[in-house]
Amino acid sequence: MKRLTIAIDGPAGAGKSTVARIVAQRLAYTYIDSGAMYRAVTWAVSRQAIAVTDREAVIKAARSLNLALTYRDGKTQVLVDGEDVSESIRTPEISRQVSEVAKIGGVREAMVRLQRQLASFGGVVMDGRDIGTHVLPDADIKIFLTASIKERARRRWQELSDKGYTVSLEDLTKDISCRDRVDCERDIAPLIQAADAVLIDTTALTIHQAVEQILRLCEERTSGLQNPS
Ligand code: CDP
Repeated sequence: MKRLTIAIDGPAGAGKSTVARIVAQRLAYTYIDSGAMYRAVTWAVSRQAIAVTDREAVIKAARSLNLALTYRDGKTQVLVDGEDVSESIRTPEISRQVSEVAKIGGVREAMVRLQRQLASFGGVVMDGRDIGTHVLPDADIKIFLTASIKERARRRWQELSDKGYTVSLEDLTKDISCRDRVDCERDIAPLIQAADAVLIDTTALTIHQAVEQILRLCEERTSGLQNPS
């Protein structure tokens, strides 16, 4: 059976990474978290005390980043120079800076090159902001996953609270809205639904329901490929 390429895009807190990871597990595909790559660049930039406004230095850091993504116990493990940064790239501080780093053209070029290499064998689920529109425009299945800002902020608040962070729902709502705006309004590969993407609003859906909808689309697609009319 053909191994599909599945692109899942959408704003923060829509459920992309959880849904993408489960879909990949169910199909025995590789899951690629493109956001983790931009987060890793942001982490490296912060570690090297580079100002995000220093574009040249940020691009240099992105190009020389020694990044590895692996999977352990169903979780993405992100290594920079062999150091496990999986948790440190998800702090509220990195979340607040990442969109400024991700809008720099030279950073995107370096990350997109890596993302395309990782996806080149097929059998992948990649989530992000520009996967269906720019990174993998020929993906077999494109999903645009979204949810109301209220629900997305609530989910992110729950996630951070579970990890022991004290954050106010109000501040988080502001941070997410701000990140959405930078991601949607940037010049290069902004967050936008691809014309051929299927929209799934997860506001009132469980993870399981969203996963099942995507798996159904995959089944339709593979049976269509086997029996072309
Ligand atoms: O998990 P969450 O939705 O909060 O974000 P993420 O997927 O980890 O992505 C973090 C940030 O990286 C986004 O807000 C974007 O600024 C950037 N990003 C991007 O520009 N392009 C992608 N393909 C993925 C992420």
